[in-house]
Parts: sequence; C-alpha cells; structure tokens
Amino acid sequence: MIKENNNLKSSNPIGIFDSGIGGLTVANAITRMLPNEKIIYFGDTAHLPYGEKSADSIKYYGIRISQFLLEQKCKLIIIACNTASAQAYETIKDFVGDKAIVVNVIDPVVREVAHNKQARHIGVIATKGTIRSDIYARKLKLARKDLEVSSLATPLLVSMIEEGFFNNKISRAVIHSYLERPKLKKIDALILACTHFPLIKPEIEEYYKNRMCIIDSAKVVAEEVASILKTHKLNTRLKNPKHHFYVSDYTDSFEKSTAFFFKGKIKLERADIWK
Ligand code: DGL
Repeated sequence: MIKENNNLKSSNPIGIFDSGIGGLTVANAITRMLPNEKIIYFGDTAHLPYGEKSADSIKYYGIRISQFLLEQKCKLIIIACNTASAQAYETIKDFVGDKAIVVNVIDPVVREVAHNKQARHIGVIATKGTIRSDIYARKLKLARKDLEVSSLATPLLVSMIEEGFFNNKISRAVIHSYLERPKLKKIDALILACTHFPLIKPEIEEYYKNRMCIIDSAKVVAEEVASILKTHKLNTRLKNPKHHFYVSDYTDSFEKSTAFFFKGKIKLERADIWK
C-alpha cells in the first residue's frame, strides 16, 4: 500500500539503488519509458556483493542509502536489487514513511509471472541472500497455487558481471554449469531474480536455444513505476533531465557499464556515505 503525501513534488527525481551495476538495467528501462524523469542512482560498490551479506547488514545499508536519496529529494525510491528487496523492503518502507514512494523489484515480476498461464514450473536464479529468503517461492505460490518453483543460488554470476567478465568461453561454461543442474531441468520459465543478470541474458537465451520464457525485472519495474507516477499525478516533463550516478567506492568497470547503458560520457560521482 502506498502512503499518500501531498507534499511530494512531481519535478523531484527518482532514486534508484543497487550494490553495483545491476540496478543500471532498471535505470536504463526507466529512462527509456520515462525520458523526462530525472534519475539519481546509487551503486553501493563499497559493499558489493550484497548476496553474501547478512539480512541485518542489508537492512542497515538500505536505510542509509534511502536517507541519502531522501536528502536528494527523491519522490520515489526503487530498490533495484533483489537481495535488498527480499531482505529489507519492509524496513526501508517503514524508514521512508510518507517521504517517498518505495518500490521493490520482486512484486512486479511475481505479478507478471502469475499472469502468464503458459508457465507452471518456474525456475528462479538469484544470489544466496535472495534464495535463502525463499521470497519468490512464497510470493509466487501465494499469487497462484498451481505454480511449482525451483530456486537455485548462482553466487559466481554477480562478481563475474560486475567485472565485465562475460560473453566469453569461461562465462559461458559457468552459466551452463548452473543452468544444467537437475533442479532446473523441468522448468518452463526462468526468472532472472538478480538485476545484474539481464546483462548475461543473451548467453542464457543461447543455452536454451531461445526456447525458454525468460523474465527479468527491468521492463516490468519501469511499467510499474510509470503507472504509480500516473496514479499519483507525480510524473514530470523535464527537458533533458540531468541524471546523477553516485558510487560509494570508485570502480573502473562501473564507469564503463554506466557509459555503456547511458551512451556517451557519464561522470561518476563518489558519495562517501559510510564515513
Ligand atoms: N543486483 C543485486 C540483486 O538483484 C545484488 C547482487 C549482489 O550484490 O550480490 O540481487
């Protein structure tokens, strides 16, 4: 349920955060669907990978980052990370209160999958933290009783992607060794339950010879945000909005990925919020 706050200003930015570059897949979809919205992105590279951390640490990071995004006057905050959405959504929502709208990346995907009547046995690949929370299995079965869910933690993938180490022989071997696990043998749809994974979607599609229904959060989350902004009359019409990309620790690969997603030169800014 979204709390009403008449003080939220439509011209204020949308805040998006992740542990690293994964949330850029969501940010990219948002700027395509809502080109007049200004984005403030925060990549918590100092604490990457989130998938290996405890739920308490993730909650602590989520609160501090949300505080930073509120200081930037964000009207809406997207937790563009499945691990943080799984473990800290309620905590962040309570902390933010009516100062901004908080969106996670799990609920829109669950709704999308539940609508797809062709899919019955759903595979979920994600970080250890997301799989440990069992959130997809719980929410999917709540949305549709007939769904069967097989979840697999794929911890090597985030570091590989964050390093820009994909689309090569070794990344393919790693991806294949996960996808050929017996657990995923009988699935008829696969959820990429980590916002980093759309970057290796072509390799996953290649493994399945384009015959698997593969769902990721980028587009469905952008649609969800568009609809929330419309409902709350919070969409804006800024001309050439100037986005900001912050990191808690500078990394070369982050700069390259940002430039890749947002064509042209992107200036990364360091926000040392952990001092
Ligand atoms: N992109 C994130 C997710 O969706 C976080 C991955 C990580 O830092 O382990 O879970």
